[in-house]
Amino acid sequence: MHAAAPSPLAARRSPPLRGRARVPGDKSISHRALIFGALTVGETRISGLLEGEDVINTSKATRALGAEVERTGEGEWRVHGVGVGGLRPPSSVLDFGNSGTGCRLVMGAVAGSPVTATFDGDASLRKRPMQRILDPVELMGARTVSMSEHGRLPITLAGARDPMPIVYRTPVPSAQIKSAVLLAGLSAPGETIVIEAQASRDHTERLLSHFGAEVKVENDGAEGRKITLRGEPELVPAPVVVPADPSSAAFPMVAALIVPGSEVILTGVMTNPLRTGLITTLREMGADIETLNVRHDLGEEMADLRVCASALRGVEVPAARAPSMIDEYPVLAVAASFAEGTTVMRGLGELRTKESDRLAVTADALRANGVAVEIDGDDLIVPGGGRPAGGGVVATHMDHRIAMGFLVMGLASERPVAIDDVSFIATSFPGYVPMLRSLGAELS
Ligand code: S3P
Repeated sequence: MHAAAPSPLAARRSPPLRGRARVPGDKSISHRALIFGALTVGETRISGLLEGEDVINTSKATRALGAEVERTGEGEWRVHGVGVGGLRPPSSVLDFGNSGTGCRLVMGAVAGSPVTATFDGDASLRKRPMQRILDPVELMGARTVSMSEHGRLPITLAGARDPMPIVYRTPVPSAQIKSAVLLAGLSAPGETIVIEAQASRDHTERLLSHFGAEVKVENDGAEGRKITLRGEPELVPAPVVVPADPSSAAFPMVAALIVPGSEVILTGVMTNPLRTGLITTLREMGADIETLNVRHDLGEEMADLRVCASALRGVEVPAARAPSMIDEYPVLAVAASFAEGTTVMRGLGELRTKESDRLAVTADALRANGVAVEIDGDDLIVPGGGRPAGGGVVATHMDHRIAMGFLVMGLASERPVAIDDVSFIATSFPGYVPMLRSLGAELS
């Protein structure tokens, strides 16, 4: 999938970024639209689907499990589902490439179906923890036939013939764990309940309701947020319009804030409050981000965001905010390195389980560019001080968000910032480099 030879790229100090851009469709919703579409009876039409490698791998997996999945135009897809419990045994290994979300959610769907499937991925995905999915789905009756050491891929999972509903408290706030349990719970009789101490993104809950399942969300309990799904629904096809991904918008947003004189409008960005921790934090840092033209489509809120270059100041980012911006810390750390004063980001333990160990890799990348960052337990401490030196080569470790974040840094640092490999950007943001160039960024 990726070129054998890494493909480096450098970003250099650029003139003011100007213009409008629409980033691709939301990755979380794109995976879910395909997977839930595969579990409905009839045809689901999806528009604005993210056509990045991660989501394409999910489309192949849903096809291998018996759904008819067809691309009808740019971002336009049709899925003919097989119904809850109707997945068919795949004839070959399901390869999820770089994608934890695709892999873990499809594991949930398989766990609730009487099929056996083998899950695999690239070298990055093979390092990521999967036991967190196997634990709850085994309680529901699925069986791990084989796995690599420490619960790593490749894993062969035999789904439950008669899945049992469970009450499950997620050990860490994770939409992937929550979603896997709810997906398996679709074919269990009675109520499957997930309780999370802190709310994680709620696209699964929203989309399941959209497809006709009975999902109840209670926020007030002392235990946290409780999601109750009534099992064995007949999911009915419903169109899905995928809004632009706020985690992708994060990169041009920070670029516009740190390149002096910039003014950029990012259109149609999803502003679901469980995804907007970065915007909250940047505003606390003094960022000029205006929300324009708020609208709602199929249960999600979206808006155009006008972002103007701003003098940023260091802040403390509370641990409780982490789930609402979990993928945004690398680029926030870049923004913090341009701020006056120190930024302390608390409670980042989960970053160690992402496409790379993002806590260590972000710190190394900042150090390579002259920023004296510190890791204290699970906290990242970034000293500001104006314009970082740059001049480093960033090791991206197969991590798209490290690659995108540090190209942003080079647009405003003293000297250029190079990354060792651009190719993983295609997992979530095909067209990233041309989009930045269209705003005036200098990348070569
Ligand atoms: C995602 C959940 C998050 C996030 C990932 C997408 C999802 O992972 O990091 O990029 O779509 O459910 P965790 O649930 O493991 O925190």
